[in-house]
Amino acid sequence: MKKKIIGAAVALGLFGGVAIQAYAQQANPAAQVNQRKAAMTLVGKYFGGIGAMVQGRVPYDAQVVQRNADFLVALSQMPWDGFDPATATATNTRAKPEIYKDTAKFKADGDSFQTEVTKLASAARSGDQNAVKGAFGAVGKTCQVCHDAFRTAQ
Ligand code: HEC
Repeated sequence: MKKKIIGAAVALGLFGGVAIQAYAQQANPAAQVNQRKAAMTLVGKYFGGIGAMVQGRVPYDAQVVQRNADFLVALSQMPWDGFDPATATATNTRAKPEIYKDTAKFKADGDSFQTEVTKLASAARSGDQNAVKGAFGAVGKTCQVCHDAFRTAQ
């Protein structure tokens, strides 16, 4: 019994620590930029993996396509809370200040990206390669629309 209580206290302590750390990172603009860029990098990785297959550069593997699409459903929700107005003056970013002015368009662009990613995941589950190819193209357009408006050219 005593052990159980101690165990619970230790677990609470650990999770509490994680929560405090996450909160601290949220307050640090440079860290927020790194986190949203990390999410985008992984979006690029798993989206690119599907691209290589629908474009025939590597053999089509339906299981990998489906796994990547499912990862993208989660990843496509992650970058946005990192676009905090406090990061507008960060130096480690290519995000344009327009993000914090035209917040409605930025949000709409993010929403259409998530919508198309969800369709890509459905297409992947259907096993229809042509549907996957079409959905891949539709997602790609949403990346481009947002980058054109809200990311500086390198
Ligand atoms: C709603 C807007 C939006 C959408 C949609 C979007 N991106 Fe981005 N992306 C950005 C912004 C803004 C940045 C710049 C982030 C920064 O430098 O702080 C970025 C950065 C990136 C980066 C560079 C990350 C780094 O380390 O600098 C990659 C790679 C990327 N995006 C890939 C993609 C891909 C692939 C898609 C679509 C499958 C996509 N993005 C969709 C807004 C978007």
